[in-house]
Amino acid sequence: MSYINENFLNMQDSYLFSTIAKKVAKYTEENPDKKIIKLGIGDVTKPIVPACIAAMHKAVDEIGTQEGFKGYGPEQGYEFLRNAIVENDYKARGIDIKADEIFVSDGAKCDCGNIVDIFAEDNKVAITDPVYPVYLDTNVMSGRSGKYNKEKDMYENIVYLPVTAENNFKPELPKEKVDMIYLCFPNNPTGTVLTKEDLKVWVDYAKENNSIILYDAAYEAFITEEDIPHSIYEVEGAKDVAIEFKSFSKTAGFTGVRCAYVVIPHTVKGYTKAGEEIELNKLWNRRTCTKFNGVSYVVQRAAEATYSEEGKKQIRANIESYLENAKIIKNGLEDAGFTTYGGVNSPYIWLQVPKDMTSWEFFDKLLEEVNVVGTPGSGFGPHGEGYFRLTAFGTKENSIEAIERIKNWKVN
Ligand code: MLT
Repeated sequence: MSYINENFLNMQDSYLFSTIAKKVAKYTEENPDKKIIKLGIGDVTKPIVPACIAAMHKAVDEIGTQEGFKGYGPEQGYEFLRNAIVENDYKARGIDIKADEIFVSDGAKCDCGNIVDIFAEDNKVAITDPVYPVYLDTNVMSGRSGKYNKEKDMYENIVYLPVTAENNFKPELPKEKVDMIYLCFPNNPTGTVLTKEDLKVWVDYAKENNSIILYDAAYEAFITEEDIPHSIYEVEGAKDVAIEFKSFSKTAGFTGVRCAYVVIPHTVKGYTKAGEEIELNKLWNRRTCTKFNGVSYVVQRAAEATYSEEGKKQIRANIESYLENAKIIKNGLEDAGFTTYGGVNSPYIWLQVPKDMTSWEFFDKLLEEVNVVGTPGSGFGPHGEGYFRLTAFGTKENSIEAIERIKNWKVN
């Protein structure tokens, strides 16, 4: 008899973005003449920039020669990329991170999901609500969530930290002690940010309670305002309590190319039941060596090229153009009478749906009546109900057209 991991039976039917894709595919099949504009999943639309393409071409030619051939690379990533990350993403911001504290991977989604491997099953997990579903689902799969309460749409052992207009999208400290805290800023899905002072409260909490902050900074390149931290390590003390996830997906359009990294400073410790302090870097390194053979050489050369002078300019131009879409969408929605949040330091615009509608009802109406796809807030958690997310990662043309359609639409 092969017994299954029954935690999977405790999960909701389908991953949010798969549910949406299925609904859209059904609608498209039934209405082949409609031009659907997809502003749902946060997938980029701009091609990979020339600096990265040139680096990939060069790397491809190199591995076709005897001298340049590469077999298995270091599981943690090539030194050239780890050093470029240290120099550009940390040293340049006055943060002291060492190359061996960086682990290059094939995506922040996998990293955020896989990190649970190194934590005990009985850790208490806190997530913001609404939240990127991966943090919750992977803790359900690994047995940390407790039972699902259908009525509340919540798991009994998870601590939910509401982030809504009522608290200005700033999560409050939990009333009970928690061990693992997921924070994502600029936030997915709300597009809102925390200042250094806001984050310091969490770092202090984690220090006091020997908790770990799992900080997802996948959207940091979209920060436009001065006092918003690009890395949690800008906050004093964070190097003792935080693991940071970063990605080339949204920054450099690598959603299909695949490259990201995790930072685990040597000073971040977990504990055995006997109270012994253990470096989390060591555990993650051990896990990485066992379960991963590294990101391809060609892709790592492309990631390195994002830090070249040309590469930096080219990816900045793409980010600026997504931010311009965000402005178009946000301003257009406000002109159409919607209240919006985010969209300033983020590619996501979070809007309030009309009071007499649920997020999914709004999703259906928007799809059927104006053929625009977004993401219902409740798909990100119960406190997302009443909200809706649009992404600025579409083309400029589609962003403008989607907004024109919404402006000319009678939602009620
Ligand atoms: C999103 O739409 O929330 C993200 O694109 C999903 C992801 O990055 O995996």
